[in-house]
Amino acid sequence: MYTTCVPINLPQDALILAPMVGLSHRALRELVLEFGGLDLAYTEMASSGAFMAGTPYETWYLDAGPRPEMTVLQFYTTKPHRLAEALERNADRPVAGADINFGCAAPHIIRSGGGAAWMRDPEGARALVALARGVWPRPLSAKLRIGPENDYSALRAFAMGLAEAGLDFLALHPRLEDERFRRTSRWDYVARLARELPLPVVGNGDVRSFSDWHKRRTEAGPAGIMIGREAARRPWIFALIRGKRADPAFELCVNLRATALRFLTLVEEHLPTDFQLSRAQKFFFYYADNFSFAHHLRWKLCNAESLAAMRSLLDDYLREVPNDAVKVEHD
Ligand SMILES: Cc1cc2nc3c(=O)[nH]c(=O)nc-3n(C[C@H](O)[C@H](O)[C@H](O)COP(=O)(O)O)c2cc1C
Repeated sequence: MYTTCVPINLPQDALILAPMVGLSHRALRELVLEFGGLDLAYTEMASSGAFMAGTPYETWYLDAGPRPEMTVLQFYTTKPHRLAEALERNADRPVAGADINFGCAAPHIIRSGGGAAWMRDPEGARALVALARGVWPRPLSAKLRIGPENDYSALRAFAMGLAEAGLDFLALHPRLEDERFRRTSRWDYVARLARELPLPVVGNGDVRSFSDWHKRRTEAGPAGIMIGREAARRPWIFALIRGKRADPAFELCVNLRATALRFLTLVEEHLPTDFQLSRAQKFFFYYADNFSFAHHLRWKLCNAESLAAMRSLLDDYLREVPNDAVKVEHD
């Protein structure tokens, strides 16, 4: 069995980009890194079975560029041996770590026995982590929801099992399996786990501003905070938090047009042609919130037929609403 031979790359108060299918790809990572402030990023989730079957897309989901040393590969699996094989296949890559998805609650993933379905089988999940630990020499993490029930002691027992099996750290998105994004995430669960587990606990859920970050960090005391949707809405959120952490008067002047165009260029440079349009639409679903007439622009961008059409739509919009081109961010 390996113990981690590469130190866990979790600086104090780590700021982490969450794994998100369709969003946490190389283009978004590059954009976020250009603003700065990020300590660690996760890839989109890849299926270990599909990866081992050689489907072209899983390799692309696991593109760890541009900074593999700060990127964690996320896998979901239904079969333990498939995860072990996928980890072995990636063991020589100079990435920051690998993560096992115990949180995905999409119905087809749960039905197949992957993602959050593992939280109904604590012994199986513990054995899965032990198997992964045996073949993976770098930091090993897991991402969890609370589980099927609102039961802290079951969550704690589940997480303790993973810690004993050799996990290095975990991230908790404190919602129940069937809650999707309903009601606010329960950060008191993060606080209790962070206090009681013998390994670092990262908190995740509904952090949308410096004030949110500050409140969660102060009240829950996690090892780091992971941000998902807000990173697509405001790719500068990590830079803003880091800047305000150092100087409460910090503000960031963002050129919304230049940022959108830069994103589209990165999409063209780094994503496979078949995925460029859908990935750009998914990003603009969130990014459109920065504009005064967000609904109107979102609808147009999410129905655009090409990246070129998206560029024209942005220019048309900014001709009509020129004051939206630049935004000063305080929180
Ligand atoms: C579009 C989308 C895709 C997601 N895909 C994944 C995924 O691949 N793996 C995962 O562990 N969580 C996934 N999540 C959950 C996020 O990582 C995160 O836990 C959730 O969005 C809550 O964080 P937030 O409030 O900062 O967005 C996804 C969320 C969204 C919105």
